[in-house]
Amino acid sequence: MTEIPDRLVEIMKRSSKIAALTGAGISAESGIPTFRGAGGLWEGYPVEKVATVEGFYENPELVWKFYNERRINISKARPNRAHKALAEMEKMYDMWVITQNIDGLHTMAGSNNVIELHGNIWRVRCTYCDYHGENMEVPLREIPPKCPKCGEILRPDVVWFGEPVHMMDLAFKIAEESEVFFVIGTSAKVHPAASLPFIAKNNGATVVEINIERTDVSIIADFILLGRATMILDSLLQKLKEA
Ligand code: APR
Repeated sequence: MTEIPDRLVEIMKRSSKIAALTGAGISAESGIPTFRGAGGLWEGYPVEKVATVEGFYENPELVWKFYNERRINISKARPNRAHKALAEMEKMYDMWVITQNIDGLHTMAGSNNVIELHGNIWRVRCTYCDYHGENMEVPLREIPPKCPKCGEILRPDVVWFGEPVHMMDLAFKIAEESEVFFVIGTSAKVHPAASLPFIAKNNGATVVEINIERTDVSIIADFILLGRATMILDSLLQKLKEA
């Protein structure tokens, strides 16, 4: 079991601005498979078929089947102790969670300051008109679902490869201003999200990585806490409360 270094607790005690970049690994213990690990989500589905605009227009039905499966899986998932620990930390700090996940579990855990860089699986938008909305139907009655306004095909309101991420300017600003920047459960392979820890570090933040293995961020991390996000964030929260 990874010990939480006293030095980290000291640094956190005198910090006020904290941020956490999270990825699929934080939701793994809620039963949502990660992308790049064994049994990763893209298996059996080539990425360019299910997570690009080109793939969507080539075969909207396949892409919607894939998202329908993910929606079924995510609808059964609940926030775990790692999501909840971050929500608790929001009560103690000026804190933001910047997530690459589309499962909505940070908000469900109680975090208010959440940036969903890659969108949200429960949101849809029209491929033709300006319709944006929420669609909570599980499973979907119709694949692909149609726009209630104009009848054209809807698409998931998520960010696919090659598309601009949401609220990146705010995410950059948060990274620049953070005193402690956590990187939790992400392989840090997909940019621009993966550049945030480097921006934080260049602006003087203490970078803390929490992952079951080392990643490309490890070389700049001031603390590398190897282990499951639930265990580590639980212990960290405990130590912060005791300190
Ligand atoms: N605790 C901590 N870390 C974990 C855990 C756990 N219980 N389980 C897995 N991990 C780590 C893995 O070691 C890996 O580094 O989580 C990371 C998951 O990495 P990816 O599957 O690559 O997910 P992510 O980094 O979120 O992917 C980024 O890529 O495909 C796109 O848009 C998609 O948002 C996604 C983006």
